[in-house]
Amino acid sequence: MRNKSIKIVPLNKNHIPALKKILIEHVKDPSTNKILWNEANGIKRYMTGKRDIYRRKRNYLVAIDNNNEVLGCAAYSALERKISKEFCIQPDQSLELLNIFVSTKLHKKGIGKKLFEEICKIAKSKGKKLLIVASGLRYKKSWKFYDKVFDKSIGSIKDKYAIERPAKIWQKTL
Ligand SMILES: CC(C)(COP(=O)(O)OP(=O)(O)OC[C@H]1O[C@@H](n2cnc3c(N)ncnc32)[C@H](O)[C@@H]1OP(=O)(O)O)[C@@H](O)C(=O)NCCC(=O)NCCS
Repeated sequence: MRNKSIKIVPLNKNHIPALKKILIEHVKDPSTNKILWNEANGIKRYMTGKRDIYRRKRNYLVAIDNNNEVLGCAAYSALERKISKEFCIQPDQSLELLNIFVSTKLHKKGIGKKLFEEICKIAKSKGKKLLIVASGLRYKKSWKFYDKVFDKSIGSIKDKYAIERPAKIWQKTL
């Protein structure tokens, strides 16, 4: 697939069934490979506008091809408070990247980067200075992607998702 044929558009409800299929390729327990249905269904609800546990709305972008086939998604929202406190980041100067997922068969074709770049563009247009992402051990395979597209990792938060469920944090200056 040529990178030029990929478009990044705001999510609409018609994208959600295809995104659900992509989600369940990835939202799995890495030790058993079982789908984590609660989490996948939770993300699906955020796509329909439900607030997350931090009371944030998540704004989703979707990557589609020339035939309107859904290839992946990513979201942005306000920065979660634990991260802003831990790293002394002004919440009003930053946005957080969330839920970046690309169809497995299309990895390493530049789709994740396109989604990321569009979110950087949006964040900049809102006057934000930093984009932040947090990623737990479950998604360790994605960390090389973050190393590539963000400026640097700024550390980790030990109990980010639950006790002893840490997250590594990256930042990009916009
Ligand atoms: C992480 C993810 C979104 C990246 O999407 P992608 O479309 O495959 O990434 P891209 O092709 O845009 O890659 C951008 C750059 O990162 C590099 N990269 C991406 N994944 C990589 C990996 N696993 N190992 C090494 N480099 C990687 C690419 O080679 C590319 O480098 P380049 O700019 O020098 O060519 C995708 O792998 C994915 O959906 N993973 C599963 C879901 C997941 O873990 N999400 C994160 C939840 S926190």
